[in-house]
Amino acid sequence: MHNPLVLGIESSCDETAVALVRADRTILAQRIASQNEAHERFGGVVPELAARAHADRLAPMLAEVLDEAGVSLADIDAIAGTAGPGLIGGVMVGLVTAKALAMAAAKPLIAVNHLEGHALSPRLANAALHFPYLLLLVSGGHCQLLCVEGVGRYRRLATTIDDAVGEAFDKSAKLLGLGFPGGPALERAARAGTPRFALPRPLVGSDEPHFSFAGLKSAVLRARAAMAAPTAHDIADLAASFQQAACDCLVDRTARALAQVPEVTALVVAGGVAANQSIRGALADLAAAHGLPFVAPPMWLCTDNGAMIAWAGVERFLAGDIDDLNAPARPRWPL
Ligand code: KG4
Ligand code: ZN
Repeated sequence: MHNPLVLGIESSCDETAVALVRADRTILAQRIASQNEAHERFGGVVPELAARAHADRLAPMLAEVLDEAGVSLADIDAIAGTAGPGLIGGVMVGLVTAKALAMAAAKPLIAVNHLEGHALSPRLANAALHFPYLLLLVSGGHCQLLCVEGVGRYRRLATTIDDAVGEAFDKSAKLLGLGFPGGPALERAARAGTPRFALPRPLVGSDEPHFSFAGLKSAVLRARAAMAAPTAHDIADLAASFQQAACDCLVDRTARALAQVPEVTALVVAGGVAANQSIRGALADLAAAHGLPFVAPPMWLCTDNGAMIAWAGVERFLAGDIDDLNAPARPRWPL
C-alpha cells in the first residue's frame, strides 16, 4: 500500500494547530499557535476569544503548512479535524474548516475525538508501541486511565470524580500567583522548593479506582491563606508539596490499574500534564518496578498539537473508519 498522507486540524482549546503526517510517521510540516497572550490577563482561557483567534489564524496556517510541505490538497488522502470534546466555538471553527477542505478536495473526513488524538499520539513517536497498553491520560480537562486495546477500542478503568489533574495544577498555580498557563509555571516554581507542607492525597490506597483532586487544591488554598506574608521560598515549597502530592496520587492510582490489566505491553502517559518531568520520572519508576516499558511522547506532543490529530486520522484511515460530512461538533464526548 502507498504511504497515506493526512492533514490534521486542532482547535478545541487555546492552541490553533495544523500538521501534515504520513502513515510512515513522517511529519511533513506543522504549525502550533498558542493564544497565551490573549488569555493571560483573564487568568484562564476565554472561550469567545479562543474561537475568534482560531477563525483568524487557521486558514493562513493551513496555507503555510501546505506550502512548506510542497503538497496540494489533491496529494492528501484524508482530512482529520477535532470534533470535540472542547470549547464548542473553537471546535466548530476547526471542524467546519476540515469539512470544507474535505468537500473541496473530494477526500474523506475524519472527525477525531481530541482524547483519541492524545491516546494514540505515543504511537506516532514510537513505532514499537503495540496494543494493548495502559494509558494515563492527563490534561486540563481529563484525568483517566484507559486500556487502549486498538484503534477505536478504549476501555476506561478510571476517571476523576471532581477536577482533572491539569485543572488542579492550573488552579493551584493561580492561587499561588504563579501565572498562566499554570502547569508549567507551577513545575518551574516547584523545582526551587522542598515539599515540606503536609497535603492530602485523595483516594490513595483506596479500592475505588478513580481520581480526586478537589481536596488537594483546597488544601493548597488553606495552606496559602495560613501564611500572612509568604516569601518566594514558601511559595516554591508549597508548589513542590502540591506537585509531590499530585504525583503520588497519579502513581498510586496507576499502580492499582496495572494490577487489573496484566495483558498490557507498556505503561504510557499522554496529555498536557505528561509534559511534567517529576510525573514522568515517577511513572517511569513505576513501569520499571512492573517490568514494563514506559512510553511518554516528546514534550511538544504532550500538549495540544495538530500532529496528534493527523496521526489519529492516519490510524482511523488505515482502519477504514471515516466520517460523514454531517459529523457533529461535540462539547462533550467521552472516549
Ligand atoms: O492536553 P492539553 O494541552 O490541553 C487539554 O486538552 O486540556 O493540556 C493542558 C493542561 C493544562 O492544565 C496545563 O496546565 C497542563 O496540561 N500542563 C502541565 C504542564 N504542562 C502543561 N501540568 C503540569 N506540568 C507541566 N509541565
Ligand atoms: Zn488536549
